[in-house]
Amino acid sequence: MKVEDIVVSLGGSLILKNLSFKIDQGETVGIIGPNGSGKTTLFNVISGFIREISGTIELDGERIENYPPFIRAQKGIGRVFQSGGIFGELTVLENLIITGKKVPYDELLKAIGLLNKAKEPASVLSGGQKRLLELIRAEIFDPKVLLLDEPTAGVAPNMKQVLADRINSLKSKTRSLLIIEHDIQFISSLCDRVLVLFQGEIVMSGKPDQVRKDPYLQEIYFG
Ligand SMILES: Nc1ncnc2c1ncn2[C@@H]1O[C@H](COP(=O)(O)OP(=O)(O)OP(=O)(O)O)[C@@H](O)[C@H]1O
Ligand SMILES: [Mg+2]
Repeated sequence: MKVEDIVVSLGGSLILKNLSFKIDQGETVGIIGPNGSGKTTLFNVISGFIREISGTIELDGERIENYPPFIRAQKGIGRVFQSGGIFGELTVLENLIITGKKVPYDELLKAIGLLNKAKEPASVLSGGQKRLLELIRAEIFDPKVLLLDEPTAGVAPNMKQVLADRINSLKSKTRSLLIIEHDIQFISSLCDRVLVLFQGEIVMSGKPDQVRKDPYLQEIYFG
């Protein structure tokens, strides 16, 4: 996927300022940056929730920036939301059935240890279990590019590892993962490369260990 010269204004402010990057098939890229730097906005732009932009988005050589979200999803853009992606009033199983895909739901739920909760409302799940369920749901669509917005935010440490393992198992030669995360250690363990967003611009990019060591990163995060 190639994102080029993306400019976004919201509520009269410039939120993304000429943002460009590429992610190769099979690559996993982390996106870090302080609160309000534009990370979720970038995902809204890629998945089509924000379409009043200038710039281009290319997936497998095809321009997709004018398509609405459902078409982009069909073309292979998957997304796990920062919060609220799971429908609490539906059962755990129903949260998968709504994908409309014919897949062995029971096996998937078993794989994430939630089979015994299949018939319960998803609202009973812990934060981490909800993230896991949402991840599995995204997986069902077999996305070419999967956008994960803070998949471990507010999740207990042991569950973080479970999520990391699951995300790791999602990697494939034909899939790209983009992961927004504040936890640099988590990012380092999963990602080939990291982009640092600051005030709507990519200000650093490199291998996780390089970026992590760079004093500029501290400056950005802690002023
Ligand atoms: N609909 C909107 N109208 C006006 N401003 C918006 C809108 N959506 C987001 N913003 C602003 O855009 C900026 C970037 O927000 P965004 O949610 O992309 O940040 P983020 O990097 O994901 O932050 P966080 O780490 O807190 O999730 C913020 O200053 C936010 O207030
Ligand atoms: Mg965000």
